[in-house]
Amino acid sequence: MRVLGPADAIAEGTAVAYPPPPGGLIGLIGVRHSGDIKVFVNSCPHLGVSLDWAAGRFLDEGGTHIVCATHGARFRLEDGVCDRGICLGDRLEAVVTQINDGMVCVPEDAGQ
Ligand code: FES
Repeated sequence: MRVLGPADAIAEGTAVAYPPPPGGLIGLIGVRHSGDIKVFVNSCPHLGVSLDWAAGRFLDEGGTHIVCATHGARFRLEDGVCDRGICLGDRLEAVVTQINDGMVCVPEDAGQ
């Protein structure tokens, strides 16, 4: 497993950017929803671009959705499903995530 960082660095309604795996180009997004940490690949299902609207900034003003900076699609934090926007019904790629000793851990090759 690859260690991304401390789980307590992700407050409820916030997001954290993580780098790509070694040799990769596409990183990850960590969010906390209802107390649970979720990790998604930072790639919009519409065009495959990164989602950040500013460096490491992903969430809408209410902290309820990840927003794609390119066309504004909104993805639910709980499951990454787009519930508003051009890719309605598509979803972000979720990453298997474990919390080990307070650290967010994902498979070595998570990301792209
Ligand atoms: S590239 Fe994300 S909504 Fe179009």
